[in-house]
Amino acid sequence: MENPWLNIPAEDYEGHMSSDKVLQLQALSKIFSNVIAKTVPHSMMLLGCAAGNGLEHLKENEKIICVDINPDYIELCRKRFSSSLPNIEFVCADLNNYERLDEQVDLVHAALIFEYVDVESLLKKIFNWLKPGGHLSAVIQLESKTTPAISETGYDSLKLLSPIHKLVNPENFRNSCINAGFYELNYREVFLPGEKRFGVLIFVKNK
Ligand SMILES: C[S@@+](CC[C@H](N)C(=O)[O-])C[C@H]1O[C@@H](n2cnc3c(N)ncnc32)[C@H](O)[C@@H]1O
Repeated sequence: MENPWLNIPAEDYEGHMSSDKVLQLQALSKIFSNVIAKTVPHSMMLLGCAAGNGLEHLKENEKIICVDINPDYIELCRKRFSSSLPNIEFVCADLNNYERLDEQVDLVHAALIFEYVDVESLLKKIFNWLKPGGHLSAVIQLESKTTPAISETGYDSLKLLSPIHKLVNPENFRNSCINAGFYELNYREVFLPGEKRFGVLIFVKNK
């Protein structure tokens, strides 16, 4: 089966995520900015970068590798940021298969991506991609009793995600991170319109 993300136009994705009903794009950008301020990385990877939400917070000399499965998102991200961020690199790949052997980084930021991949397998890879003492920051969508996992915003293409979207339980996620060799530094919840919530977890790779 082709990954449904390949059939969601960037305009639909950004229209949905920034809709007044959810304000998720804005919240995710702010979370990324806070993570950078907290972890002060010199090099980083952004997993599921979409069209580059949050990259506006980076300084010109920062090194970042952006990974996403959708080539159109990557192209848009490249157009938006390659002149202001000369050390940006792009990888168009499925994170379920992607292996990276280049030098390790200080931070891996993975926001709303664990819902779509094999969690344990990606965590093992992230552990290897990080320098000892490096940080993993993960944003996961928390369960809501009142709001559907994918909100109704009028962008129908987003409904293609329903068959592959799975909520990640924060306790299970925490245990998987610890099993992979991380320890937890910080946890907080971010509240969005419509009783949606994100869990923001920061882990450190043991030295
Ligand atoms: C909900 S969006 C991420 C939001 C973004 N991180 C932010 O902070 O605004 C999920 C992104 O992950 C990408 N994605 C989904 N499954 C993927 C996979 N298996 N491999 C790589 N990228 C994937 C999608 O194309 C999409 O851009």
